[in-house]
Amino acid sequence: MRIGVLTAGGDCPGLNAVIRSVVHRALTGHGDEVIGFEDGFKGLLDGHHRPLDLNEVSGILARGGTILGSSRLERRRLAEAAENAAELAGKYGIDALIPIGGEGTLSAARLLSDAGMPVVGVPKTIDNDISSTDRTFGFDTAVTVATEAIDRLKTTAESHQRVMVVEVMGRHAGWIALESGMAGGAHGICLPERHFEVEDLVKMVQERFARGKKFAVICVAEGAHPAEGSMDYGKGEIDQYGHERFQGIGNRLAAELERRLGTEARPVILGHVQRGGTPTAYDRVLATRFGWHAVEAAHRGDFGMMTALRGTEVVMVPLAEAVTRLKTVPGDRMLEAESVF
Ligand code: F6P
Repeated sequence: MRIGVLTAGGDCPGLNAVIRSVVHRALTGHGDEVIGFEDGFKGLLDGHHRPLDLNEVSGILARGGTILGSSRLERRRLAEAAENAAELAGKYGIDALIPIGGEGTLSAARLLSDAGMPVVGVPKTIDNDISSTDRTFGFDTAVTVATEAIDRLKTTAESHQRVMVVEVMGRHAGWIALESGMAGGAHGICLPERHFEVEDLVKMVQERFARGKKFAVICVAEGAHPAEGSMDYGKGEIDQYGHERFQGIGNRLAAELERRLGTEARPVILGHVQRGGTPTAYDRVLATRFGWHAVEAAHRGDFGMMTALRGTEVVMVPLAEAVTRLKTVPGDRMLEAESVF
């Protein structure tokens, strides 16, 4: 069998572990050939690819990013790929394509699959918001990085009697904010799923200061925003899900808290630090398991499917099911978090 593999969308710690696992399982387990398309679907459309052998993937398990490069492709070019799906498979002589990516990539994978390309998807995103898998690799790493940042910010906040507002990634789902906020012992967490009252944060800081704890750390997802009338926020942009989104919540919330509290507040935008660098052990293992199962699925002819974690088992689920909705944080998860603020 000849297998094509590509990584598309935003990068994510663990991508190299999947590539390595696919190559090992395919070459040594089945005697297959593997080619890697460069820079996501662009490589597939433009014919940029290279053979992947054991030496190519040696030493990449712990490396962040992706040795194949990645890109986000415009819809127009994806439609072009879908129109030519069957011919593209023939052109490269591939019997299976393993695209590794998030919601956008998996939607594209579904289009290609519907158009006749033999596809087995592998989900990835630091946001952990793909509904049909309990976890995506990359999330554990992002949470670990953000947790360490919160730990560090607490000591400097305490030394200067400041409020720190840490903005973490998560435009539509607040999993990183929730879990790093809980793990780091943040004193407030703001998620995209639930509009927050600025006054609640003001009261929380005042209460802490009144009992002698003269600092606070608030963990805010980039997609979080204040409840109507709770802070002057102007108009946001309407995203592809029809939700109003605002830019720069970390900066704006820190300024607002400083104004209302009369206490110094500092914003810290973690940004792409959360996506770069070496994956945690958990993410390396999950990524390696997904790679193994993707190759096995290709050999069974389980196309139009993607790998998913259900409990502790890796299973195959239809791509159609994977991309119908985002997995957001349910309300009761915030109750658990709030009880330890
Ligand atoms: O989906 C992953 C993600 O890291 C989001 O959390 C974040 O909003 C977005 O990608 C950032 O995208 P870009 O790298 O294009 O700025």
